[in-house]
Amino acid sequence: MRKQIVAGNWKMNNDVAQTEALIASLKAQNKTTNAEVMIAPTAVNLSQASNSVKGSTIEVVAQNMHFAESGAYTGEISAGMLKSIGVNTVILGHSERREYFNETDELLAKKVDAALANGMRVIFCFGEELADRKAGNEEAVVGSQIKNALFHLGADAFQNIVLAYEPVWAIGTGETASPEQAQDMHAFIRKTLADKYGNDVANSLSILYGGSVKPANAEEIFSKPDVDGGLIGGASLKAEDFFAIVNAF
Ligand code: PGA
Repeated sequence: MRKQIVAGNWKMNNDVAQTEALIASLKAQNKTTNAEVMIAPTAVNLSQASNSVKGSTIEVVAQNMHFAESGAYTGEISAGMLKSIGVNTVILGHSERREYFNETDELLAKKVDAALANGMRVIFCFGEELADRKAGNEEAVVGSQIKNALFHLGADAFQNIVLAYEPVWAIGTGETASPEQAQDMHAFIRKTLADKYGNDVANSLSILYGGSVKPANAEEIFSKPDVDGGLIGGASLKAEDFFAIVNAF
């Protein structure tokens, strides 16, 4: 049985007081659910957030990290530092990191290696741009993003990897992939993994959808057989909306 996961990517939102307030509301709404629930506050608030979620089933995860263990990388954060404050999962490869911070597949492969070497779990994001989809190249783009960053790994590594398909044209735009578009791509992703690593690996891998998931569309998207949850941006900033999405399973 694959894990169902709903992860809130807070991006560069919420100062420390807002982080505390949102976690308090989330804890108040955190009922028993089959899904794993994660939140990704900004790095500066991760330590406090990890303490604040105690007593709930919410996991605090990081939005990014560097590949090196330590050293002269001004402004960066290592896997060891994250682990030392109780953060054991990291989002890597978000399209905003790729676009605004020039993160390439090659760099992301190094980050994935560093996270796994430190015993962390990775939520690995990828997705095509609008021009790719218009040109009918979405599968080629997604396939190469996955291969370039992950296909050097052994099959065992996938126990600690969650994939997140996020079409760039649907992130923060209010435009969502249709449930059918999401399902088609998720099935393609699972087949890509099955061709390389076999059905056992592919069938046990959770593949999340991200891009304008809201309470109104979550249930239909999550009902698709190859969609195992969501990576939620805007709607994760309101406790009621986020839990309406979690409860869509
Ligand atoms: P969105 O963001 O839900 O605001 O579209 C999703 C994401 O970037 O992970």
